[in-house]
Amino acid sequence: MLFRVPQLVYFMAPAYLANMAPPFVRYWKGWNRPISRRWLGTHKTVLGFVAGVLTAMLVTFVQRRLAWSGSIVAYDEWALLGVLFGVGAMAGDCAKSFFKRRLGVEPGRPWIPFDQLDFVLGALALVHARVALAWSDILAILALSFCGHILVNHLGYWLGVRDTRW
Ligand code: CTP
Ligand code: MG
Repeated sequence: MLFRVPQLVYFMAPAYLANMAPPFVRYWKGWNRPISRRWLGTHKTVLGFVAGVLTAMLVTFVQRRLAWSGSIVAYDEWALLGVLFGVGAMAGDCAKSFFKRRLGVEPGRPWIPFDQLDFVLGALALVHARVALAWSDILAILALSFCGHILVNHLGYWLGVRDTRW
C-alpha cells in the first residue's frame, strides 16, 4: 500500500494547494468581503474562496502538462477537475466553520480533526466519482492529509503567514 503514497499525494495536490491559498489574501489590500459574517465569521472571505478555486485549477493545469505516468485520474478535463477540487475544498472548509460557529468555537481555535480534514472530505465528495479509489486509498489520504496539514500549518505559523499554529 505504501507504494500508492506518491500517487495519492499527487492526486490530492490541487486540494492541498487550494487550501494553502486563502491565508495569502490578507496581503491583498483591495476589495474583499466575508462570505457570511453571521454564519462563518469575518475571516472566511470571498477572495479566499476564489483564490482556492483558482489555485486548484492552476494545479490541475500543470498536472495535465506534466502528464505523469503515476496519475490516477485523467487531466483532459483539467478545468472541470480543478473547479471540483477547489470548490470541494473551499466548501468543506466553510461547512466546518459553520459548525464551529454553531458550537461556539472561535475562529482560529483548533477543532481537531475537522480543521485538518474539512477540505479533504469536501474535495473527495466532489471528485470521488471520477477516480477509482479503494477504501484503503481513502483511509491513506485521510491519514496523510491529517499529518501533512499539521506540519504545514506549524510551518506557516513560524513563517508568519498564519496567526495560529493550529
Ligand atoms: N481565509 C479567507 N477566506 C476563506 C478561508 C480562509 O480569507 N474562504 C483566510 C483568512 O484570513 C483566515 C485564514 O485564511 O483567517 C486561515 O483560514 P482557516 O485556517 O481555514 O481558518 P481558521 O482560522 O481555522 O478559522 P475557523 O475557526 O473558521 O476554521
Ligand atoms: Mg483552521
